Amino acid sequence: MDIKKVFVMGSGQMGAGIAQVSAQAGYDTYMCDISDEILEKAQAKMKKGLDKLVSKEKIDQARADEILSKLTPTTDLGKVSECDYFIEAVPEIEDLKLKIFKDADEAAPEHTILATNTSAIPISLIAGATNRPEKVIGTHFMNPVPIMKLVEIILAYQTNDETHKVTEELMIGFGKEIVTAQDFPGFITTRMILPFMNECMYLFYEGQGTKEDIDKSAKLAFNHPMGPFEWIDFVGIDTILNILKNLHESHGSDRYFPCPIMQQMVNAGHLGRKSGRGFYDYTK
Ligand SMILES: NC(=O)c1ccc[n+]([C@@H]2O[C@H](COP(=O)([O-])OP(=O)(O)OC[C@H]3O[C@@H](n4cnc5c(N)ncnc54)[C@H](O)[C@@H]3O)[C@@H](O)[C@H]2O)c1
Repeated sequence: MDIKKVFVMGSGQMGAGIAQVSAQAGYDTYMCDISDEILEKAQAKMKKGLDKLVSKEKIDQARADEILSKLTPTTDLGKVSECDYFIEAVPEIEDLKLKIFKDADEAAPEHTILATNTSAIPISLIAGATNRPEKVIGTHFMNPVPIMKLVEIILAYQTNDETHKVTEELMIGFGKEIVTAQDFPGFITTRMILPFMNECMYLFYEGQGTKEDIDKSAKLAFNHPMGPFEWIDFVGIDTILNILKNLHESHGSDRYFPCPIMQQMVNAGHLGRKSGRGFYDYTK
């Protein structure tokens, strides 16, 4: 299958990054969100990132302009009718993802593959919301997308070989390394990392250590490039809470029971870097 146009739904942390790597790989790419303001913010952030690469002489200005010229922002999901590959990166809320897949399925041409960047929602369930379940697959990018090498490909129970093959080729074309996981909640990477983050929050919540000391331990004892609280703030506390709730419910295991501090922080609007405050303060 010859992929010419890619549609990315969501221009948040992940969607904007996915749209950027798609544009960088030379695909005409739609980046879709619910408002022009959100899209403008995403574009400005992307431009700032590319300007930084130009100033460090990693790419030249012509290349930065070329990447941006491949990208078209839109608030119209209907534009998926022009696209060969659709990647969804909206918030980790099951009903929302199911609705978006139903809408995308109705608007997309018959051959279009529909992929989701979900961290924990079953791909088979999402596939079941469409009339093309064999063309639905998981493409789980890592954050920050332009920098992190891995994409975890997740096969829904219904995914066919052709969809798998085309997706592998596209991800390799995006410059990524791939691993393949079966469709059990949390796949490979999310199941590895979420219990670690949750346990670190319990350490803090129970007063066993300060967040600074827990972060320092991860960095100096295990060589992690950032501490768990720096990382949680980077990912977003609402996102982590939603994923843990989902893992807890789907595996029926207490090891995923979300540390209560997260719900309090979400209620307070302290979502991490994106809201200016999380475990650390980013307002200054
Ligand atoms: N943040 C991470 O580190 C990370 C890593 C891997 C996977 N994921 C997954 O990627 C997905 C997106 O996460 P994110 O961190 O980019 O979230 P985010 O909150 O930063 O961005 C989500 C974007 O989707 C937009 N959106 C588009 N259509 C929407 C609609 N109909 N209703 C509500 N919002 C809509 C929002 O406006 C927002 O810009 C989630 O499924 C998440 O689990 C996140």
